[in-house]
Amino acid sequence: MKIILAPLEGVADRTFRSCYYDHFRGLDEALTPFLPIPDRVKRVPLRTFAEVALPGESKVREIPQLLLSDESAFLTALGSLERAGFDEVNWNLGCPSRGVIRKGKGSGLLPETGKILRILDSVCSRARIGISLKIRLGLEKREESFRLIPELKGYPLKSLTLHPRLGVQMYSGRVDLDGFERAMDLYGRPICYNGDINSLDDFLALKKRFPDVDRWMLGRGVLADPFLPSRIVDDRVLGLDDSQAADHPLKQREFRYFLDDLLLRMESRFHREIALVNYLKGILIYTCNLNSMAEGFRERLLRIKTINEWNSLKAELYDTLDQ
Ligand SMILES: Cc1cc2nc3c(=O)[nH]c(=O)nc-3n(C[C@H](O)[C@H](O)[C@H](O)COP(=O)(O)O)c2cc1C
Repeated sequence: MKIILAPLEGVADRTFRSCYYDHFRGLDEALTPFLPIPDRVKRVPLRTFAEVALPGESKVREIPQLLLSDESAFLTALGSLERAGFDEVNWNLGCPSRGVIRKGKGSGLLPETGKILRILDSVCSRARIGISLKIRLGLEKREESFRLIPELKGYPLKSLTLHPRLGVQMYSGRVDLDGFERAMDLYGRPICYNGDINSLDDFLALKKRFPDVDRWMLGRGVLADPFLPSRIVDDRVLGLDDSQAADHPLKQREFRYFLDDLLLRMESRFHREIALVNYLKGILIYTCNLNSMAEGFRERLLRIKTINEWNSLKAELYDTLDQ
């Protein structure tokens, strides 16, 4: 079984990820947020890949992601990734952002089975590195993936990850587990599951329903509770359950050290204090959504504008949690 960090653009950047790997365990791989490669690109500068660790450069294997719909840009990016030393690339066919859909990329490409297959024909026949896909059930209807998935059997994909929501749903509504089951039947082999694994109980219920799945991708659940991957891994050995993790994760010293270390590492990346504070909020907001969070903290976190304000709020929060 493999636990994979989901790409989280604007949050789980390289600094976040390497800091995370230094403090927590349980992850086997990480998919990076999509690389900023424009359409009709002729040459991809090496600095574009600075956000991704090369094989062997990081404690956790990282796989770069592309968000493209243009065959020639894909081939150019692929060549550059190969020359830079990467051994796998992931194609994003799931992004639900309106701007991305309007450009016919991400989940905006899912209704176009023919175009996806044409691009795959071209890149799979030339690629010397592995290609994996991350998809949703469809842009507007799950029939879009039900049409695509049987065709994917003909390609030498490294892996297929499915987040069982539609693009138009963004992140609302429930994940469609019947849709995931149907997709697995159509593919005839295990698919990597991604979506709403926010606790060990969530994972155990999904594992029970899909015992053949051996790749699990976690995103927001890791931001909310960074101990989640290790708890999932330990459960296989120890048989723990969620009652042993009922405390808020911010009660744990390791999470507090991680946050301080992350801010230290991030300071040099942000020239404006407000940008650093906003980055911190972008992470902590997921932790704040946990039920065991101290009352009112979420709203107060959203109001802070300086690191000094964060330090006072943090002291108060830790005091409250420690009582
Ligand atoms: C802030 C944010 C940024 C995301 N960025 C990407 C991205 O760059 N590429 C991608 O394939 N998915 C991206 N996603 C989708 C996640 O990778 C994942 O599919 C989704 O959050 C569902 O998994 P989860 O419930 O475990 O978070 C993003 C999601 C969020 C919330």
